[in-house]
Amino acid sequence: MTNATSAPAKAGLEDVVVSTSEICFIDGHLGRLLYRGFDVDELVARSTFEEVVYLLFYGKLPSKKELDAHVKALSSTANRKLPPKLIAMLRLLPKKTPPMEVLRTGVSALSAFDPEAADNSREATLNKSMRLTAQMPTLVAAWERIRRGKVPVAPNPRLSLAGNFLYMMSGKKPNELATKTFDVALILHADHEFNASTFAARVTAATLSDVHSAVVSGIGALKGPLHGGANEQVMLMVEKIKEPAKAEAWIRKALAEKARVMGFGHRVYRVEDPRAKHLRRLALELGQQAGNTDAVQIIETVARVVSAEKHIFPNVDLFSGAGYKTMGIPTDQFTPIFALSRVVGWAAHVLEQHGNNRLIRPRAEYTGALDAKYVPISER
Ligand code: ACO
Repeated sequence: MTNATSAPAKAGLEDVVVSTSEICFIDGHLGRLLYRGFDVDELVARSTFEEVVYLLFYGKLPSKKELDAHVKALSSTANRKLPPKLIAMLRLLPKKTPPMEVLRTGVSALSAFDPEAADNSREATLNKSMRLTAQMPTLVAAWERIRRGKVPVAPNPRLSLAGNFLYMMSGKKPNELATKTFDVALILHADHEFNASTFAARVTAATLSDVHSAVVSGIGALKGPLHGGANEQVMLMVEKIKEPAKAEAWIRKALAEKARVMGFGHRVYRVEDPRAKHLRRLALELGQQAGNTDAVQIIETVARVVSAEKHIFPNVDLFSGAGYKTMGIPTDQFTPIFALSRVVGWAAHVLEQHGNNRLIRPRAEYTGALDAKYVPISER
């Protein structure tokens, strides 16, 4: 029996259009991805993550003066630093807490220290979004240091968001290729239309809740292995395969056992995800620089077999981790890194939702009982 007001349910809301949006366009057949009308391929070649943040928040490319002021705000110690009480709170967490859980907890706690937490005006939401974009890298890096028994590294306002994050993780200034690769990864993960985490963030925002709450919803949804968590699973697979020569036999066996192979397939793309080629190239360059391309070779072999046998293609999560690993980033930090970038998309969607809001409240196709009789507990 269906509700009189509703159409039959569509599993996973596949192809259901829930709203208009001016932020992101995906052509799943041609493998094209645009932010505010700009092809990500061009943004990767010509832009920076900071400029993409401006583009997504304000809907246009900045003038030189606007970009300078924006970069200054994103890089400022005032915006990047964490409240000391928050660092003290992190130290209380068990060291084995997964970084994605620490990020979810830390972002929620950051709202308690935010001077505009209760203000949902566009201006305050923009300010909070800027602060979150600047603070989240510090939070992720601080936890990495704390769990290793080290002192968190203070942010360096002279470094780009990408360079500063890598610096705060290791305490050493990163090389140019690592910084460039990380910047490109941030550009490529910044937004992706109504993906699961962005939808979660928009549902939260549509109740007129605040941007911190929406970002916490987004982090919770991103964490799962069918979404952002897939990048960690890809690296765990690479570690199981161990060496390029064993990759083909391993993946053929996995496919024969009907395994779901992480880093492949997509709800929207019917071809290779346009972001994968950039991450593949950069992971290979980083591997060559470090003198070890095993991970990329393993993934290439897996991709060749899976694409040929299953006709499903690499998504954004397939090659990202190989590059991060070469930069010395632990596998369980890959999904938090995704969030450092996607926070920008979540915030842009919160701004858009608040700008023309209507509560998001779909229906369920009820398939349960209609005439259940209550039996007293003594008679059950
Ligand atoms: N490995 C093996 N088979 C797959 C895969 C995969 N990665 N992806 C899809 N399939 C198969 C399914 O088994 C199914 O086959 P069937 O019809 O014979 O049962 C068919 O393709 C359709 O799969 P669904 O799961 O119904 O497709 P859906 O659109 O719901 O799923 C998803 C999309 C979740 C991304 C899926 O492709 C998947 O699980 N991929 C692996 C996880 C992953 O990489 N997630 C990251 C996606 S990108 C991102 O979120 C940032």
